[in-house]
Amino acid sequence: MSRKIEISFARSAKPSGAVAVFPVAEGLQFPAAAQGLDPGGTLEKAAGIASFKGKSSTNLDILAPSGSSADRFLLVGTGKASAHGPDFWIKLGGTICSAVHRARKVVVYLDGSDPAATGADAADLALGMLLRGYGFDRYKTRKGDADEAGDDERQKVTIVTSTAAAAKKAFEAGAAVAAGVNLARDLVNEPANHLGPIEFAARVKDLEKLGVKVEILTEREMRKLGMGALLGVAQGSVRPPRLGIMRWNGGKAKDKPVAFIGKGVVFDTGGISMKPAAGMEDMKGDMGGAAAVTGLMHVLAARKAALNAIGVVGLVENMPDGNAQRPGDIVTSMSGQTIEVLNTDAEGRLVLADALWYCAERFQPRFMVDLATLTGAIMVALGKYHAGLFSNDDALADNLAAAGLATGERVWRMPLGSEYDKLIDSRIADMKNIGGRYGGAIIAAQFLQRFVKDTPWAHLDIAGTALGSPASEINDSWGSGFGVRLLDRLVRDHYEG
Ligand code: BES
Ligand code: ZN
Ligand code: ZN
Repeated sequence: MSRKIEISFARSAKPSGAVAVFPVAEGLQFPAAAQGLDPGGTLEKAAGIASFKGKSSTNLDILAPSGSSADRFLLVGTGKASAHGPDFWIKLGGTICSAVHRARKVVVYLDGSDPAATGADAADLALGMLLRGYGFDRYKTRKGDADEAGDDERQKVTIVTSTAAAAKKAFEAGAAVAAGVNLARDLVNEPANHLGPIEFAARVKDLEKLGVKVEILTEREMRKLGMGALLGVAQGSVRPPRLGIMRWNGGKAKDKPVAFIGKGVVFDTGGISMKPAAGMEDMKGDMGGAAAVTGLMHVLAARKAALNAIGVVGLVENMPDGNAQRPGDIVTSMSGQTIEVLNTDAEGRLVLADALWYCAERFQPRFMVDLATLTGAIMVALGKYHAGLFSNDDALADNLAAAGLATGERVWRMPLGSEYDKLIDSRIADMKNIGGRYGGAIIAAQFLQRFVKDTPWAHLDIAGTALGSPASEINDSWGSGFGVRLLDRLVRDHYEG
């Protein structure tokens, strides 16, 4: 599962004792001969016998003939170039990674293969390999069983391309991205007995090693600030809450920061409005938003992004208890607005209410993007292949949608409106934390909007995309790390420099 993959780029390499990998486009001659590795024409013959034509999602894995220095040849079909999306190279890297999982040594030949790769493409391919190579196996005590590579065994990957120098440069950022996504996945996969608010805060604190300024607010400090909404959620747990604040100052001192806010419910039982037993274990991943924010801050610092960025994570556990908050309780948020808590399972919005308000007031950011596994309703609306996007700012929403298409972490814009907003008016408080039967994801977003002041803001409901994701070319993990690449791309394309 988890592999230590070491990637290097070279202008040429001999595949001695390696799997030699060749991407092959549909209908084209495969390129091995060009590399002089197949003098006898064995590959061509094998491809003919197997009717391998380079169709996408097909590959041909054959033992190298005697006399060849390679152990195996792997031809990977890349389909028709006209069908390639912007995430083609990263997916190709993932596909190759899953096909070579037992090999100690891999050489991927990009030159003379089709399509031709630029340095950035080769770096994306490497990123795809690192993402697909991730596995969460820290609780497997028998490593190296059966056909798995042992944890301490490495896989050396050489990517051969005439653009090796450019690829190496581009991969400096790519390696940072892989580390950030895999950090987010680790946090989501980690069970809640091992990752409470305090343990999560310690992982946030670790980012100081990369030059991120980190503050961790305790319960007392949050009480002083008047964060009654967040604290109400936390009060049923014996594990106290934390608020993590990360600052990356890569821009000019006078530049306003951009800000990312994450829901970090380390476990969501529903509280007194308790969830049914079936599937409740998934709620260890209810901190997927906070994980993505932490992973993103890791990326920005590791690649020394040229901007100022804030990350805020609200870390709580939602438990039933003699001291837990009850349905009907009224809490006062940091904003001063009062909230009637009609369902203690609609807790993420309560946590974010205070985190968003705090962030808007203290940092006055250029924009805020929050990420949250907020509603089951967003899965009913969009399934598992798009996150819900809600925004009060068309330019920000458009930029997020474009970043989604570029990275393959797709988002779909959903509506906001005063009619929906009215549904959360309460008879006895300023608002209630649930609305009617329909449009649950929209109602949750309307609730959040009451805490953003007039900051340009976008909310990403990632309940369907951050956890329990179907395996893809670049992800074989339960926690997907969704949002890290999306927001890194947003920042890179629009807000840096
Ligand atoms: N954490 C859940 C939402 C969720 C469900 C995330 C499934 C990931 C997978 C959230 O706190 C919640 O319980 N929401 C309720 C809101 C309802 C009570 C208004 C929901 O969606 O049912
Ligand atoms: Zn809940
Ligand atoms: Zn929740």
